[in-house]
Amino acid sequence: MRIRRCAVLLLEPREEMRFALEDLLAGGNGLLRTLRWLALAGHLDAPVEVDAAERELLGRASPSDWLEPGVLPDDLAAAVPRLVAEGLMLEEAPADPTLSDADARLRELCWWTPSAVAHRHGRWQGVDGAGESERAGLLTVEGLESRFGPPPPHVAATRTGAARQPLPRTPDADFDRLLVRRTTCRNFDTARPLDHARFATMLERVFGARAHVDAGTGATFLKKGSPSGGGLHSTGAYLLVRNVEDVAPGLYHYHPVEHALEPLPTPAAPLDELALLALSGQHWFADAPVLVALVPRFARSYWKYRHHPKAYRALVLDAGHLSQTLYLSATELGLGAFVTSAINEIDIEQAFGLDPLEESPLAVCGFGWRAGRMETAEFDPAGEVWEVAGPRAG
Ligand SMILES: Cc1cc2nc3c(=O)[nH]c(=O)nc-3n(C[C@H](O)[C@H](O)[C@H](O)COP(=O)(O)O)c2cc1C
Repeated sequence: MRIRRCAVLLLEPREEMRFALEDLLAGGNGLLRTLRWLALAGHLDAPVEVDAAERELLGRASPSDWLEPGVLPDDLAAAVPRLVAEGLMLEEAPADPTLSDADARLRELCWWTPSAVAHRHGRWQGVDGAGESERAGLLTVEGLESRFGPPPPHVAATRTGAARQPLPRTPDADFDRLLVRRTTCRNFDTARPLDHARFATMLERVFGARAHVDAGTGATFLKKGSPSGGGLHSTGAYLLVRNVEDVAPGLYHYHPVEHALEPLPTPAAPLDELALLALSGQHWFADAPVLVALVPRFARSYWKYRHHPKAYRALVLDAGHLSQTLYLSATELGLGAFVTSAINEIDIEQAFGLDPLEESPLAVCGFGWRAGRMETAEFDPAGEVWEVAGPRAG
């Protein structure tokens, strides 16, 4: 059968180090290094280790022209069955088309190859990032410094030596008060439901369309409270609602034009467990009454920015803008908010029924009432949010 290479592929010579007591006892430095060639494909979840013949075949086979049977020299022909089984080489009419279909759909999506590989292979499943950091002592500045030394300075040093030109300070306006009160919330009130009105206001302000404009061609463009690369607003909001008045706990998609919740099937795991898993064990966030996964639809963006080196970056920036709008909206309503990119993307995709080729989360935000006591540290050096006894009113 005719074969060709998958479309989106990078090869990495990866060195891995591990501590080996036996090496130390034998007089070595206790560090064993292994060097492996890994094939990272945009349609596969995990890297595939490849040997010299397999690398050679991947380098020689075209991703577009089919190779006729019998044209390869014996050593390369011998590499074909395993690469086909792994999905790196694809048959024209395979018995199981799952991997070929994934490759074909990825071709249509017009990713820039390094971005496709970075996103696909940067996703986590079942990672307990919080637990790992805690066990490694990396949740405190002291722990970080004892492991990595002091951080680089807090402000970049210019090298010109030119005198600084001081600027006037801004009078304390409402917007400044809002900015100083914006503080990442790591202490949510688990007993106090979020009222329906504030919940709706949050979604409308952060994710809702202020206008939708028909371009006259059948295409529609949305106007929102945050800017978006190419004006495409590719990023959707998938909600895990835990404690909101008049909203059944569960999973939802938010419709930005209708300003409505679209209920999704009940996930297999209880919501508490799913929240903790989605947030990679960050229990200080998992209690939030509302979690929102920021999920770009890649096809919407790459329709315009085809194979574009900046397209994925624009999606990441879009998520950052949405997050800041969410923080400020929450602060203005007297709520706490957070964002995190330390998430288990694959578990989130599975819970919401997302196909990672089409839609995959970049971050998770959350909001709700703050707790009465601070159990997990927040960064509130001026006491704008917390008094000694609890959160400040207003
Ligand atoms: C992109 C991004 C990712 C973040 N990820 C985490 C996280 O994984 N866990 C966490 O506790 N805080 C996270 N934060 C919050 C930061 O720790 C927080 O913004 C920072 O400490 C400054 O505190 P402030 O937001 O209260 O000013 C994240 C913030 C941003 C912008």
